[in-house]
Amino acid sequence: MHLPDFKEARTRDKRKYNRIDFKIDDSIEKKYLGKKYYVKTYGCQMNEHDTENICALLEALGFSLVYDYNDADLVLLNTCSIRENAHNKAFGMLGRLKHLKSQKKDLLIGLCGCMAQEAKVVDEILNDYKFVNFVFGTHNIYQLPEIIDKAVDTNKQQIEVYSREGDLVEGLPVVRANNYKAYVNIIYGCDKFCTYCIVPYTRGRERSRKKEDILKEVRELVDEGYREVTLLGQNVNAYGKDLYDDYNMGDLLEDVANLGIPRIRFMTSHPWDFTDKMIEVIAKYPNIMPSVHLPVQSGSNRILKLMGRRYTRESYMDLFHKIKDTIPNVAISTDIIVGFPGENEKDFLETLSLVEECKFDNAFTFIFSQREGTPACKLEDNTSLEEKEKRLYKLNEVVNKYFLENNKCLEGKIVKVLVEGVSDKKNMYFGYSDTNKLINFTSDKDIYCGDIVDVEITSAKTWSLDGRIK
Ligand code: SAH
Ligand code: SF4
Ligand code: F3S
Repeated sequence: MHLPDFKEARTRDKRKYNRIDFKIDDSIEKKYLGKKYYVKTYGCQMNEHDTENICALLEALGFSLVYDYNDADLVLLNTCSIRENAHNKAFGMLGRLKHLKSQKKDLLIGLCGCMAQEAKVVDEILNDYKFVNFVFGTHNIYQLPEIIDKAVDTNKQQIEVYSREGDLVEGLPVVRANNYKAYVNIIYGCDKFCTYCIVPYTRGRERSRKKEDILKEVRELVDEGYREVTLLGQNVNAYGKDLYDDYNMGDLLEDVANLGIPRIRFMTSHPWDFTDKMIEVIAKYPNIMPSVHLPVQSGSNRILKLMGRRYTRESYMDLFHKIKDTIPNVAISTDIIVGFPGENEKDFLETLSLVEECKFDNAFTFIFSQREGTPACKLEDNTSLEEKEKRLYKLNEVVNKYFLENNKCLEGKIVKVLVEGVSDKKNMYFGYSDTNKLINFTSDKDIYCGDIVDVEITSAKTWSLDGRIK
């Protein structure tokens, strides 16, 4: 049994990581043939991609996927700690599973992901959720087959959570959720320690994968007919800094672009590490999508400082304009937090004025959520929830206004769309444009998922656009 501890998780050192190749133990391969599993994923793309590895590990054990947890022999929750509501959702689901287990004694229940890294959650599971068969952390995914097998063999609760990252495991199997778009991890963890954020504690130190491993993975995706890759990391711009003296995110983007995959995206960029080279490379290669997610969090320098974001409003704006001026037709999206401890009306108005200036193409807006163990959790907070909700409402009004305004500019224009399927409504197809906008469109031609087609935009809405094929 290994239990998590944030004090240990917070430590960072300069040690080099061993790279180890994953191999499943022959004695348990396909041991559970005929059994069914269900996985529920909360949180970010990183977690979604972890689920793709987890599914493959379960399938290596012999499990097959079902879409209704009532039909499953094993239910796994891949959880997220970023805000309190993500927590609550996972515990709500555990409540439903408790009920199911009371009728189905052999049901195996597991919990993994970022919540598994929190000592408080694990304590709660040890004491109050004894029906949970196993818990494993974000650094223990590769051990999943053994953990499940031991939980079954011993009929005892298994808790395997390393507080700190271990070796870099390559060669984990993967079952991708989509046949055309793929996620590729390039860097794990985060060293930024923004004062509100739990991720550096749940995901460990920044560790880049070797460029050879990344390029090999993308090359295989090209051979398999994938049309789009999203390079993933909590802060992709830090890529390479821990591994190489003279190879960074700009170089990696260029090497990936040269592999010829039609579309490349990357998530997420911290403004701190965004280099000129990256901007040049994005502008130069047509297969790197002109779409940048650049979380700003606040427009107030006082709050940015309290958040530990390492940039000012002015330096963010400089970067913003440099990206806008250099990359043709680029769309910039962002994340914003309102109600950070100590945020007053003036700070909030500065956030609104920054939004007015940037006119973001998309924005994810949140009310600050206290995360135990983070420095911001200890800051005095005198603003009522009601006031914070009002700020969020106001902010959403303003960001939405610009989503629509930006989308309206596309009316009558032709955009390239990667076809993903048929949308629920009106027999339309749907897909995403280069700038990551959701496009619903009609077609009088035969088209297939994975095609990249020209669509003429006929009408713009706040969160999507309608069009017809050209
Ligand atoms: N690594 C990314 C962010 C990942 S988390 C970056 O820094 O750019 C996604 C978003 O969740 C953050 O950008 C932030 O806006 C929000 N977030 C993180 N912690 C939060 C908290 N404690 N309360 C509210 N929102 C939070
Ligand atoms: Fe969290 Fe900041 Fe790291 Fe993003 S950069 S994951 S917000 S600590
Ligand atoms: Fe959530 Fe962990 Fe991602 S906290 S946002 S699942 S890194």
